[in-house]
Formats: sequence, structure tokens, C-alpha cells
Amino acid sequence: MQRQIFDDYESLSSAAADLVLETVRQNPGAVLCFATGNTPVGTYRQLIEKARARQADFSQCFCFGLDEWVGVPPEKSGTCHQILHEQLFKPLGIRGTQVHLFDGMTDDISAECRRMNEMIRQKGGIDLMLVGIGLNGHIGFNEPGCSPELEAHDQELHESTLASGQHYFNEPTPIAKGLTLGLAQVRAARTVLLLANGAGKASIIQKALEGPVTPEVPASHLQQHEGAVVMMDKAAAAQLTQ
Ligand code: PGA
Repeated sequence: MQRQIFDDYESLSSAAADLVLETVRQNPGAVLCFATGNTPVGTYRQLIEKARARQADFSQCFCFGLDEWVGVPPEKSGTCHQILHEQLFKPLGIRGTQVHLFDGMTDDISAECRRMNEMIRQKGGIDLMLVGIGLNGHIGFNEPGCSPELEAHDQELHESTLASGQHYFNEPTPIAKGLTLGLAQVRAARTVLLLANGAGKASIIQKALEGPVTPEVPASHLQQHEGAVVMMDKAAAAQLTQ
């Protein structure tokens, strides 16, 4: 696992955007997976600016979404679906046929998860997965205690995830469960780019990077991933001891 520490959020976001662009430049057919949340907002903004300036070509790549809220219509502001399409795919010219996201409105969760797993296998696995980290150490909706062997699955969400999740919506929205790629798929991605910024993440970043590898801190599994890159700003890295 590599660590990179940046002075501030803008330089962290710029480096993360560069890594996505470089991945697609080297492999135009790259299979990508994107998270939502506050952390990657700057990365996506810079990715769009840089992609336009460099005339980057995303027409051959394929994109997965990391997770989705169960029971929230996809067009609603705040879903992973709506955020990724509006803030990333449309501005980059990525077409609907190049994207596979969880359907949070499915009435057959097992079938939905099987479809996701099958699609990832068909595409030959994920080349670059961009993720954030929850205050409880989750990646996607892999909450503390999740088996590292799981593929796509549904998950009851923890209090802290529900509380921060509510901020993504522009009106109170009932949420209880999520659909997520599993830690097996995070661990199998050729590169996992984990982003963290702000002092609020300093404690969990220290546990995830320097504490024991344990299901209680799902992001700690990245310590054993040779292709993991953790990009942090100084505030998020403040409690690291090494
Ligand atoms: P955040 O969420 O980027 O909004 O901090 C991260 C996460 O919960 O994975």
C-alpha cells in the first residue's frame, strides 16, 4: 500500500484526477469504479476540467458504481445514480451503455447483486476503483464486521452512515439499507485509490493504515493490497505515527 500526503484538498483532488486520467490514457478500455460522497467531489471537478483541457477520451472505458441506497428512486438528487451521471459521466461524455450501476429500486436484491458480480467478471475485473472512507472505516457500504470475502451484497447501515448519508439528499429521505460492491471486489481491483481529507478522518485513517487488519475496520484490508494508493491531505494524515 502506498501513501501520499498533500498540503490541501485541491492538490489531493488534482493528483487523484491525474491518476484516473493516466489510467485511461494507458488503457483506453479501462474498467473503472467510482464512489460518491463529499470526498471525491473535487476530484471529479478537476477530472472534468483536465479531461477537457487534455482532450482525454473516455469513449472506450467502462464504469461501475460502488454502491447505492436501497429504495430511493435513481433520479432523486443524492443517489449514487444521480450524482455519478450528473457530476461525472455526462460531463465526461460517458454514455449509458458504458455504465453499470446498482438498481436501488430492485425488488430482487439477490438477482441485482448477481447481475453486478457477473458484469464485473464479464468486463475482466476492475482496473481502478476510487473510494472514500467512512468515519467508521467503511468502504462503500461495507460496514464494520463485514466479511472480506463478500462480493456485491445488501447491507443494513450503521448510525454514522445513516447520519452522514442524510446530508447527501436535499430533503429528508428514508434510508436504512444499501447495496454495495463487497470487500472481495475492492481487494481484487488492480488499483484501489482511497481518498481522505479533513481532520474528521484523521483518527479512522490512523486505524485503517496503522492498526490491525480486521473486519472491524473494513478499510484496513487495503494494508494487504499492493495496488492500494491512499491519498490524504495533511489534516487527514495528522495522526499517522510513521
Ligand atoms: P464522505 O463519505 O466522502 O462524504 O466523507 C465517505 C464514505 O462514507 O465512504
